[in-house]
Amino acid sequence: MALPTQTAPQDRDPFVTRRQITWAAICAFLGTAVLMFVRFFFPRALFEPSPRFRIGPVSDFAPGVDERFRQSHRVWVVREPDRLFVILAKCTHLGCTPNWIESENKFKCPCHGSGYDMEGRNFEGPAPRPMDRASVELDAEGQIVVDLSRLHSCPPAGNCTFDNPESYVNVSGARG
Ligand code: FES
Repeated sequence: MALPTQTAPQDRDPFVTRRQITWAAICAFLGTAVLMFVRFFFPRALFEPSPRFRIGPVSDFAPGVDERFRQSHRVWVVREPDRLFVILAKCTHLGCTPNWIESENKFKCPCHGSGYDMEGRNFEGPAPRPMDRASVELDAEGQIVVDLSRLHSCPPAGNCTFDNPESYVNVSGARG
């Protein structure tokens, strides 16, 4: 009587292994495709703060340079006897963020040494013009609203006085 022929294990294993590898590759491919498809619905968007924001009433600001919003919105709020205005903390040379040096009463850019006075006017270093100012206004609740989408700039070597009424809030009659 003839015995059934048995397949030797070394003959069977390579076939099973090849099939497993093929299925693993197909699953990996399909898994990656599904992940990429799902990822498509979560774009790598950069969430920046709104260019328009409230910073509080005039009475919140003492005379001088206020640095409270430098980190969050890259601006300084400057209060003078008759005006309050907002300077964009961006050097007009190559865009670094200057520092306010209270002891010297000036802004100093750490990159190439440009200096600006308290009103943001350049007076030393390579900066070609004063720093820009944001539009500001008071809303119905007396809060100062800053709008960085509407900047006020001085041309290089221009004798700019920032007299556009949108570039400051009149505080001569305000308390605080
Ligand atoms: S970027 Fe400020 S001096 Fe160059």
